[in-house]
Amino acid sequence: METIRIHALSRREFLQESALTASLLGLGWTATTAQGNPGKVEPLRIGAIGVGSQGQANLRTVLKVPGVTCVAVCDVFEPNLNAAKRIAQVPDDDAYTDYRKLLERKDIHAVIIATPLPLHAPMTIDALNAGKHVFCEKLMAYTIEDAKEMARTARRTGKVLQIGHSRRSSVSYNHAYELIHSKKVCGRITHIRAQWNRNASWRRTVPQGGRILAWQDYWKDPEHLVNWRLYKRTSQGLMAELGSHQTHVANWFLNEVPSAVCGMAGIDYWKDGREVWDNVQCIFEYPSGVKMIYQSITSNQFDGCSEEFMGDRGTLITIAGDGAKEKGLLYQEPKAETLDWAQYTAKEKGANGKEGLVLNASATKKLTTGAKIGETTLTTSAEDKTSYDLEFHNWAASIREGKPVLCDAIEGLHATVPIIKANEAMARGTRVEIPRHLYEI
Ligand SMILES: NC(=O)c1ccc[n+]([C@@H]2O[C@H](COP(=O)([O-])OP(=O)(O)OC[C@H]3O[C@@H](n4cnc5c(N)ncnc54)[C@H](O)[C@@H]3O)[C@@H](O)[C@H]2O)c1
Repeated sequence: METIRIHALSRREFLQESALTASLLGLGWTATTAQGNPGKVEPLRIGAIGVGSQGQANLRTVLKVPGVTCVAVCDVFEPNLNAAKRIAQVPDDDAYTDYRKLLERKDIHAVIIATPLPLHAPMTIDALNAGKHVFCEKLMAYTIEDAKEMARTARRTGKVLQIGHSRRSSVSYNHAYELIHSKKVCGRITHIRAQWNRNASWRRTVPQGGRILAWQDYWKDPEHLVNWRLYKRTSQGLMAELGSHQTHVANWFLNEVPSAVCGMAGIDYWKDGREVWDNVQCIFEYPSGVKMIYQSITSNQFDGCSEEFMGDRGTLITIAGDGAKEKGLLYQEPKAETLDWAQYTAKEKGANGKEGLVLNASATKKLTTGAKIGETTLTTSAEDKTSYDLEFHNWAASIREGKPVLCDAIEGLHATVPIIKANEAMARGTRVEIPRHLYEI
């Protein structure tokens, strides 16, 4: 059965791009850090728009990339603007409440956007049109049409647009991708199970005395600004905020995008005035026949956050997290033959009590797949970097050296479409087909 190709690339081009991914993840980083002299790399002056929780984390991370300086910050909420001024060490004159003023600055090459979801599209489109390169947080956009317009603007302006699905830059996820594509480890993948379960409300405490400095017509009160995730006008809920990372990985690993989705959801536990569901369950169907069962709940954290790729020879589990917390586990099917590198791995018991092999560089690189991505990434200094470190390193390399953008606008669009359609399916309580044209710009 024909599958929809990510990036609209042929299989051969896709593998070439994977090799480039490896060099970005590994060799690029080594080359930059080995110089030990940030002065030698081209300066990259950035502005940060939306500097709340993730915006501040992004700022700290991007400032570790050699040659990057943040010369301006923008936010409408006083406590966050002040915090970002301190992180970036910018004076009052370089702190804005209107992002368009920041975009007017000719000395700024690129911007990082980490505002609430509906503002991603207008801000990204304005930034690209102003000649800036952009890193925009996930979910790419509130609507499919918005995401398409962002992608079209990136193509027309020729500027870099990277979307913040950070697993795309992760060493262990890239390695897992290679293992799955070797077919020796899991065989043929037929099903995926993924979940992001928490036992927490998602509600944030509104800082006392926190002032909204601008956009009062849009943000009517601090509650809506601080808890934007809980309200329909500003949020696509759990699927967008959590599930999109995992549908993105599934699309990437399968090299196809879902063609249908069904599901159920509700506000059944946190009846606190929120408008978005506190639990979502859905099934995505891919053109190859693979089904992905997805769950995100907020009243029980069992199994936390992971993705299970289930094949006829084994199950590979990917678990995201900062640095060492990020890992992969392999459970062989009884009928599968022992892998040649298995003797070198540590063993660990999963939540189900079954013993799995912990995937690690020295063991799994012994796999002779012919695909080099895992070997390359895992023998370089990229190994001890978080996926967040690497995604900003990759972003800078795309801007400076024209390296391929990891999680570009098309990949971001491909991750957005299934999320919007899953929400539609759960709202309507029916199976929803996802026509292919929704993935095309
Ligand atoms: N990649 C990841 O792992 C990851 C993790 C968390 C959040 N995110 C994404 O980051 C984005 C922000 O999430 P967050 O948790 O930081 O939210 P947040 O509420 O903490 O921060 C958003 C910030 O945007 C500001 N803002 C709102 N309107 C603005 C405007 N008109 N101009 C300038 N600033 C404005 C808010 O005042 C706030 O400071 C979301 O898209 C979210 O999905 C990504």
